[in-house]
Amino acid sequence: MVILRSLADLAQWQDSVSWHQGKGGFVPTMGALHEGHSSLIRHAVRSSDQVVVSILVNPTQFNDSQDFNRYPRTLDSDAKAVKSAGAHAVFAPSPEELYRGTPHAPHVNWGALTHGYEGVHRPGHFDGVIAVVDLLFSAVRPRLAVFGEKDLQQVAVVQRLARERHPNVRIDVGSLVRDANGLALSSRNIRLGQEGSREALALSNTLFQLRDELVPEMDSHAWEACLKRAADALDNSPGVTLEYLDTVDATTFKPARSLETQPVHAVVAAVVRGVRLIDNVSLMA
Ligand code: PAF
Repeated sequence: MVILRSLADLAQWQDSVSWHQGKGGFVPTMGALHEGHSSLIRHAVRSSDQVVVSILVNPTQFNDSQDFNRYPRTLDSDAKAVKSAGAHAVFAPSPEELYRGTPHAPHVNWGALTHGYEGVHRPGHFDGVIAVVDLLFSAVRPRLAVFGEKDLQQVAVVQRLARERHPNVRIDVGSLVRDANGLALSSRNIRLGQEGSREALALSNTLFQLRDELVPEMDSHAWEACLKRAADALDNSPGVTLEYLDTVDATTFKPARSLETQPVHAVVAAVVRGVRLIDNVSLMA
């Protein structure tokens, strides 16, 4: 397993393994890898000849500079995790190397996809995601890229980016991984502490409850009432400040109020003890 720090090193390594002749797999990350990332890497390894994992804390997708500064940076242990999941290279350029200068992200408006939900609470976030994934796809030129279902809106955004600008890249979605208590794995969880980890379970418990309650025969009034009850209860849960709880069409990120249009997911974002968390569950029967 090699660690590549520059675009030139990446190109040289790719030539040495005949990357462009084979099936190159790619898993983009911001590091602080956990079992959720390892499962994405194993997914890529199963379907590819060679796999590159990128590690870059991308400044253009953070609307809060404190959040950017506090984001964990753990390259040594990440490299070990990448190796044991079976990938062949880590691509860890500096932001300036990848962006070829000062990192910047042009504004992109894809309606609800970029401006709903995460787009409301993290203005400009998807501008940064689109910019960095576009640059990474252009540099790595994979056949397959794997993204995690936990960042469900990001998946929908990346699918559109791939359709429009990188039609040769197949996007696979790796399942969300939870800990034994049901908490969605996230690099931010290490900042929750014991108490926060307990309080954060209110998010997944609310989603599981909605999955049981929102049934196909329900009319839209009953659906709304159920959502409102769940949102009020979650917002009043100790330690939790709710940003949004809703049910959406996972491909358009427009609100969904029945199970007729699939795929419908319940999505949530909340701050628990200063840590912003997101989670979702599929409502498909
Ligand atoms: O999901 C992430 O970790 C990031 O948003 C990504 C896709 C690596 C872009 O920086």
